[in-house]
Amino acid sequence: MTDDDGLQMWLMTGYDDVRAALADPRLGQDARRAREIQQRRVAGTKIGADIIHMLNSDPPDHTRLRQLIHGAFTPGRIRAMRPMVEGIAARLLDGLAQRESADFVLDFALPLPMAVICALLGFPNSDRDLFRRWSTDILTDSGPDDFARATAELVEYFEAQIAQRRARPTDDLLTALVESSGDGRLTEREVVAMVYLLLIGGQETTVNLLGTALLALLKNPDQLADLRANPDILSTAVDEFLRYEAPVCMATIRFTSQPVDVRGVTIPEGELVMLSLGAANRDPKRFPDPDRLLVRRGDPGHLAFGYGIHRCLGSFLGRLEAEIALGGLLAAFPNIELAADEAALPWRDTIMLRGLESLPVALHG
Ligand code: HEM
Repeated sequence: MTDDDGLQMWLMTGYDDVRAALADPRLGQDARRAREIQQRRVAGTKIGADIIHMLNSDPPDHTRLRQLIHGAFTPGRIRAMRPMVEGIAARLLDGLAQRESADFVLDFALPLPMAVICALLGFPNSDRDLFRRWSTDILTDSGPDDFARATAELVEYFEAQIAQRRARPTDDLLTALVESSGDGRLTEREVVAMVYLLLIGGQETTVNLLGTALLALLKNPDQLADLRANPDILSTAVDEFLRYEAPVCMATIRFTSQPVDVRGVTIPEGELVMLSLGAANRDPKRFPDPDRLLVRRGDPGHLAFGYGIHRCLGSFLGRLEAEIALGGLLAAFPNIELAADEAALPWRDTIMLRGLESLPVALHG
């Protein structure tokens, strides 16, 4: 495939190929090397090689960075966050209950994960509009200038927060990261990069999941009715929402560090490779009747959280948020309806993410 800048890349879409590629150590993620390959072909690049975090690193750096933070995202730690997430969801639902209609994305799906990640990292929730603007400029095709400006502003913001934690440590995750840099396990640049990845990775993905899950339910009333009547299948249903519309529909760009054979085709060394998680999740060879939403499908083998060493670190948190948010919403609004023409709904303008910009709903039917 060729992107808008004329850059040629290989694209994999089949479930088996994508899954094997995600686990293949010959497909690297190291941002510096990826940028070098890209620049050799097209001048001007958006591969951000200045911010090196675990998702754009290969072992052994990846292993070290992931091990340092892994403890904060174990199932037990995430279960302990349930009351905090429930409190945030309840406040947002109370706000909605006062209204006849709302934009589900702007009024609920977006503020919920933002408040959760801000609480986890210890950032003031009042800065959420800033984060939203920065992450939009970083993740959408806003042009290299907007990308560079947003990245620089975000980094400056983090540096100020880090300086505050050094002066006045608290019990948030940022303080824990700053302390790891104090004892030499992380550099200050790596703390900034870690926070950058968590903020963007924790926010932009969950908002997409919530929006597309609700739309899928509103379009499939039989599935919605089943889920309403049987809230105990919510966790299974969340897997189906993740499969049906993978929130990260394209994995981050990989490159071949050696020639790689894929069913008789050789991808030479030094090529860029895109892996479509969204297409893999709808591969009819793997998922029967893949274009149908079936809340009882009960197949957690989808690739929405990736696979292999870079599999999503925040998957338990993303799932917890989705279960609390969707469960709470369906219980609070038994007559919720779509209040817009489905064909006119605005989708995010990026091939990486599959999500709605806006989802108008009538709350009381
Ligand atoms: C429904 C929500 C989410 C989805 C669908 C999702 C999806 C993904 C995917 C597909 C990857 C791998 C990308 C690749 O291999 O190129 C990934 C990695 C990652 N995600 Fe998530 N994510 C979600 C929520 C979160 C949350 C809530 C956090 C943290 C607060 C988070 C943090 C990360 C991190 C740190 C990585 C990099 C892991 C590594 O490189 O080892 N994610 N996510």
